[in-house]
Amino acid sequence: MTNTTLALLGGTPAIQVGFKPFNTIGDEEIVAVTDVMRSGVLSGYIGARGEGFMGGPRVRAFEAAAAKYFGVKHAVAVNSWTSGLTASVGAIGLEPGDEVITTPWTMVATATAILQWNGIPVFADIDPVSFNIDPSSVEKCISPRTKAIIAVDIFGQSSNMRALRDIATRHNLKLLGDTAQAPGAKYFGDSTGTLADIGGFSLNYHKHIHCGEGGILVTDNDDYAARLQMIRNHAEAVVDSNDPQVLCNMVGSNFRMGEIEAAIATEQLKKLAPNILSRQRVAAEFNAGLGALLGLATPKVSDGCTHVYYIYGLTLDTTALGLSREKIVAALRAEGVPGVGSGYQNVHLYPVFQQRIAYGTKGFPWTSPYCGRNVTYEKGICPVAEHLHAETFMSLNICLNDYSTTDVALVVSAFKKVWANLDPLRAAV
Ligand SMILES: Cc1ncc(COP(=O)(O)O)c(C=O)c1O
Repeated sequence: MTNTTLALLGGTPAIQVGFKPFNTIGDEEIVAVTDVMRSGVLSGYIGARGEGFMGGPRVRAFEAAAAKYFGVKHAVAVNSWTSGLTASVGAIGLEPGDEVITTPWTMVATATAILQWNGIPVFADIDPVSFNIDPSSVEKCISPRTKAIIAVDIFGQSSNMRALRDIATRHNLKLLGDTAQAPGAKYFGDSTGTLADIGGFSLNYHKHIHCGEGGILVTDNDDYAARLQMIRNHAEAVVDSNDPQVLCNMVGSNFRMGEIEAAIATEQLKKLAPNILSRQRVAAEFNAGLGALLGLATPKVSDGCTHVYYIYGLTLDTTALGLSREKIVAALRAEGVPGVGSGYQNVHLYPVFQQRIAYGTKGFPWTSPYCGRNVTYEKGICPVAEHLHAETFMSLNICLNDYSTTDVALVVSAFKKVWANLDPLRAAV
């Protein structure tokens, strides 16, 4: 077999080398962590009123640096972005049975943050090009019980925040931002995450910048910042009001970030801009290499956006190709292309929503008398997201590796080999 034969059909894989893993942890983080270890103070938090309520010196330093970097009044560090999302839904004063509109094309934590406060997730469809929530679909999901929208800046670029803000203003809704995947991306010059009433970023280990596990909330709203800080740290132990508006959702948690993570995150924040530039360089090289392949659409950058390419999303025209996505994906994987994803997420189709079983076994919160209507999640409610997931979307996880220009050229050559062999692939069973 020559190297022109597809590996899937018995040929030699185009890629037979490993790529350098992307690793942003360097001496700076090691020195910062060593300093914390030598201090002996690994967390400065106390879950009671007083100096320690706002965390230790590294947490506060990280928050100050993040607020400056993203251009907001307040940054609130948490131990994961899942905690950050949960805190933000609580902070806006969600009532049980309130509905929050979000996208199914996301990591499940976006939706479960709503359930955590006994709210009802409602799924709007996505735009087929940007993969972000489609404002026209959001509008159709609004009911008298809708309280908020959670926009998810998926894969590395902003949602259409102008249209979403317009909807939120007209219907008196809060607008939250899940920018887990897009720190440092811009939307008409502003940082993503900062256009929402409360937004923020994940700092888990595979994101652009990370501290192992962590998250950072951003907001310009003083009241929300105070409520986020309360929910982060055992609110019920310190809240001193009898006013229901103040007490609302002040059932706190321990969402506190430790000093080690904060020290790492502070160093990582300094690396965000160069990390983004490197991702953009890699994406531009993939665009140039893959752009002309039949039936393959490379990522499009939306109006007013910059893209930071957490995931490099590709769409296949399976009709033009005369091939299923599964065959293309199998052929690419056999050639040794790393990080090829097939489909993404259809959160509304997960068992928790299909069965509507979350708290206990009796359908709470959907069956609660606080719900205004019977929200259900049949297949077909998000046709664009469902079709992309089932049939046409694939991705490259370009965050996995520290790709040089030569590496990208090798991966592109593997794609071209597959595309040069569409006929034998079509004929293969
Ligand atoms: C869109 C989105 N939302 C939420 C999360 C949850 O973030 P974390 O893992 O920091 O809890 C992730 C993590 O991958 C994500 O991609």
